[in-house]
Amino acid sequence: MIISSNISLKPYNTFGIEAFAKYFTSIRSVQNIQELLRDATYQNNARLILGGGSNMLLTKNVGAFVIKNDIEGIEVIKETEDHVLVKCAAGEVWHKFVMWCIDRNYGGLENLSLIPGCTGASPMQNIGAYGVEIKDTFYELEAVHAVTGELKTFSKTECEFGYRESVFKHRFKNQFIITSVTFKLSKTPVFHVEYGAIKQELDAMKISELSIKVISQAVINIRSSKLPNPKEIGNAGSFFKNPEVSSEVYNRLKINFPNLVAYPLDNSNYKLAAGWLIEQSGLKGYRKGDAGVHKLQALVLVNYGNASGNEIYDLSTHVLQTVKDKFGIELEREVNII
Ligand code: FAD
Ligand code: EPU
Repeated sequence: MIISSNISLKPYNTFGIEAFAKYFTSIRSVQNIQELLRDATYQNNARLILGGGSNMLLTKNVGAFVIKNDIEGIEVIKETEDHVLVKCAAGEVWHKFVMWCIDRNYGGLENLSLIPGCTGASPMQNIGAYGVEIKDTFYELEAVHAVTGELKTFSKTECEFGYRESVFKHRFKNQFIITSVTFKLSKTPVFHVEYGAIKQELDAMKISELSIKVISQAVINIRSSKLPNPKEIGNAGSFFKNPEVSSEVYNRLKINFPNLVAYPLDNSNYKLAAGWLIEQSGLKGYRKGDAGVHKLQALVLVNYGNASGNEIYDLSTHVLQTVKDKFGIELEREVNII
């Protein structure tokens, strides 16, 4: 295990922001973590765990010990007639893991195709797309306590999953290094095509027989058509969450804004499409310097080249304020601000 200092994190975050890490190391096994825990430099510094850097905005140099989780390996740990338990190491690239499951006809993750980042970060915000979240197939995860070295298994309940939420984003932030995630996948998949855009895409693809493979391809097509590829334009996906409001607030807004895009929730509240709110605030395609609101998806903030983390952050504040002034709704940032 090599510990480096003053390392540029530009290649390690999908916003492509320049920022330097005080210390940096890559871990490839649980044993590496135990070694790290005995290292004095590690013990004397704060820490930041890094996966693919696709859900963070670096607003300053990181005066901490950055631990890049590169632990690899995928294994079936239990199999029955209907299900498989698949354990995936934290450093595996998420989309590669999803494809591995699809190739074996293990269903449940196909709607989550093409989400960037590593498997170890997937429980952090209970990643979700096209009507599915990882909590739907999550079985358990293993994590090492970043100070004591205790190896702990977290059940689904203990992860406290919510919409883009988990216990690791708050109470246990930077406390545990997630080393693997286990999913319970189905050998007789249930297809989730209720999300309108998927149906339309399947029609356009002229699909007559559903399979997890074609659903995955439909999701890939939709995502590629509107989400910017971080290899071309720096971004971290949706910068804000879709806000949840009471039915009273929804009804009031609907009177003034009849085209409001919203989805009813089970608890009688509504989820508003933040992308719509931002677009209607006149900010879709807005650009200040190299920081911008994406032209095709207003929920995504982008770095056109040399924006600093603070410029992106200031733009996000401008978006928050503009939406609040127009709709009285306070958006919440989804991306982890470092
Ligand atoms: P990072 O950005 O490296 O880390 C995110 C957070 O997790 C940080 O706080 C970090 O400290 C922590 N962390 C990372 N790994 C570990 C670990 N092993 N142990 C403990 N803590 C850890 N998200 C969605 O939910 N749905 C989408 O549809 C979606 N689409 C996206 C599209 C684009 C184009 C982009 C760029 C991003 C998108 N995202 C989406 C956001 C992002 O891809 C996910 O949140 C992803 O899970 C982040 O993974 P990562 O490895 O890059 O995490
Ligand atoms: N919309 C607009 N203008 C825009 C963008 C969206 O009017 O510029 C409206 C459209 O009416 C559209 C609706 O908003 O029908 C919803 O848009 P979309 O289907 O693109 O989804 P989203 O709500 O913007 C969410 C997730 C994405 C996820 C997609 C697909 C959040 C914060 N974002 O986006 O997740 O991929 O749904 O399920 O929940 C991420 O978390 O990083 C992310 C990309």
